[in-house]
Amino acid sequence: MREVAIVGAAETRFGKSELSYRELAVEAARGALEDAGAEPGQVEALFLGSYSPGTFVHQEHVAPLIASELGLSHIPSTRVENACASGATAFVSGMMAIAAGLYDVVLVVGAEKMTSTPVAETTRILAEAADWENESKVGLTFPGAFALMAQAYLHKYGYGREILDAVAIKNHANALANPYAQFHKAITAEDIANSPMVADPLTLYDCSPISDGAAAILLVAGDAARNFAKPAVRVLGFGQASDSLALYRRPDLTTLPAARQAAQRAYRMAGVSPRDISLAEVHDCFTIAEIIATEDLGFFEPGEGGEAARAGATSRDGQIPVNPSGGLKAKGHPVGATGVGQLVEATFQLRGEAGGRQIDGVELALTHNVGGSGATCVVTILGRAA
Ligand code: COA
Repeated sequence: MREVAIVGAAETRFGKSELSYRELAVEAARGALEDAGAEPGQVEALFLGSYSPGTFVHQEHVAPLIASELGLSHIPSTRVENACASGATAFVSGMMAIAAGLYDVVLVVGAEKMTSTPVAETTRILAEAADWENESKVGLTFPGAFALMAQAYLHKYGYGREILDAVAIKNHANALANPYAQFHKAITAEDIANSPMVADPLTLYDCSPISDGAAAILLVAGDAARNFAKPAVRVLGFGQASDSLALYRRPDLTTLPAARQAAQRAYRMAGVSPRDISLAEVHDCFTIAEIIATEDLGFFEPGEGGEAARAGATSRDGQIPVNPSGGLKAKGHPVGATGVGQLVEATFQLRGEAGGRQIDGVELALTHNVGGSGATCVVTILGRAA
């Protein structure tokens, strides 16, 4: 396989936006090209991660739409859908195409506009990414699914909800330094205690929000990376894995086997271990998901992720900084954009361009993007070019 590098990265601000779906995607894509000092004419293929633009904004067939808006009319363009992991799966598609030698320059975009539909309809559209016939149809929404995981985890390991509070408080604090984040609002345990219950034990502040946004990455073959403006970031490894959509088929709700498999594949390909990772952007669609992710990724043993969160081991100056961007919880979660947004943040951190949220001495950054309640997981490991 050929080496693959990131030479351009950009994202829109996440949150409720006045911009349309296409305007968001184009803003991010143009930003990534500009960041790399690249011309649109250099792009040989486009991969676009998007979950459900047809139902959110009545627009399907979005890959050629965005390609033509960018003036890339005759290149191959492909939409990739894997629920909330659509973005990272689009990235994997682009990476594999370069690694296989098909193209030298590929644009990867993730985009979603979720705020145009009423919240009840948005919840139903999202629930279509779970097993509709067996679970969603009879009322299991994503907040409900992750609430079951939270109950199982708290019960199994004997924790109270203070471990969930720790994740929400940390990620809201981290997002204060992120100009792309949806929320710039510090919260306290008291705010959480006084907030509405969504699905017991998950309150408003345990949930990622409903968001609009887009993110883009320009990928190139490793040996072409020196021709672009910014220092290259190398894609050292990735892993992707699948699992049942239905929760009732999972023997244990306190871990995501697809995340464990994806992580092992990514570590093996990169030739590194969890202790080598400088920071991680993980898929905290609900606070419990971040705690489970830190165990599935091997940062902590099963059952220890809760105590690690409570003790500050995942804070910006902790043993392993997790979600310095604010995560899905506070940066926002425009589902198709999220996985690409994690890679944009990891790129900024590796280039030392993360401003007030910069972590010192970042050598290796890991991203973890989950589709649904763990039916898809993509883990990526990025490093600075030598
Ligand atoms: N975290 C923190 N604050 C939030 C929030 C969240 N997740 N969602 C909304 N808010 C804030 C809003 O900014 C607003 O604040 P304001 O009154 O100061 O302006 C207030 O809470 C009410 O916002 P509203 O949009 O009316 O909330 P809602 O009740 O319609 O939606 C949820 C709240 C939790 C139901 C919604 O965010 C949700 O469904 N989240 C989960 C999304 C999801 O499942 N994604 C897929 C994951 S797999």
